[in-house]
Amino acid sequence: MIDLHAHVLTGIDDGPKTVSDTLAVMRQAASDGTHQLVAVAHANDGHFAVSRGDYDRAFADAVREIQMAEIDVQLIPGMEVRLGPKMAEGYRQGDFLAIGDTKYFCVELPPNDFPAYTLDALYELSLEGLRLLIIHPERNRGIRKRAELAERLIRMEALGVASGGSILGQFGPEAEASAWQLIEMGFIQAVATDGHSVSKRPLRLSAYEPVLSRRYGESVAMSMLRTTPALVLQGAPVELVPHPRVGWRRWFGSR
Ligand SMILES: [Fe+2]
Repeated sequence: MIDLHAHVLTGIDDGPKTVSDTLAVMRQAASDGTHQLVAVAHANDGHFAVSRGDYDRAFADAVREIQMAEIDVQLIPGMEVRLGPKMAEGYRQGDFLAIGDTKYFCVELPPNDFPAYTLDALYELSLEGLRLLIIHPERNRGIRKRAELAERLIRMEALGVASGGSILGQFGPEAEASAWQLIEMGFIQAVATDGHSVSKRPLRLSAYEPVLSRRYGESVAMSMLRTTPALVLQGAPVELVPHPRVGWRRWFGSR
């Protein structure tokens, strides 16, 4: 499996604090069957405005430690850039990193707000040739209240990446319901761990597979956790296809 979004770099944001914490989360991911992982760090965020220089150093250190510990997971660079009016400028200046060698770029919306400038700022980024990955859109209150905002993002060909904790109900019933709605609309096309630590937000992608399979079938679960993330890492196009619920459960309204 491929984890498109996890915080595993040491001491740089709210992820692992020590090298041994980093190795612990990486061992957890490896034993769960993850073989590639985008090692994000928060950027452009009031709490964790990680600079490019700090990111590059932490990334290189983590790659070295993981190799020395013989953990068989490939780290891919990428930043989780908090929405701001000057994201495109930051990208042009080299402050923010897209995923690996691709033009896929992670944007995190604030939880409580969908500021008036949001669509303009995202559009400006897309003019840089970037394809936007909107990280855990189901946790944004604006999108939860107004589904038409997700339609606007779909029209911009932005791609939603849910946090697995949302589909497990760990961020509350509203985020969970929103995740299902956005998957069924075709906005969310992948699920990542947003892992931060072994216990609090673990790096266990396999926990989501049965939940997704039960609701949408095995092939959709496979596309959310493997195929679509692989396309993203290759920089290949991802189609925004709606995923309808399958099976008898739909008729009885159960999960
Ligand atoms: Fe994150």
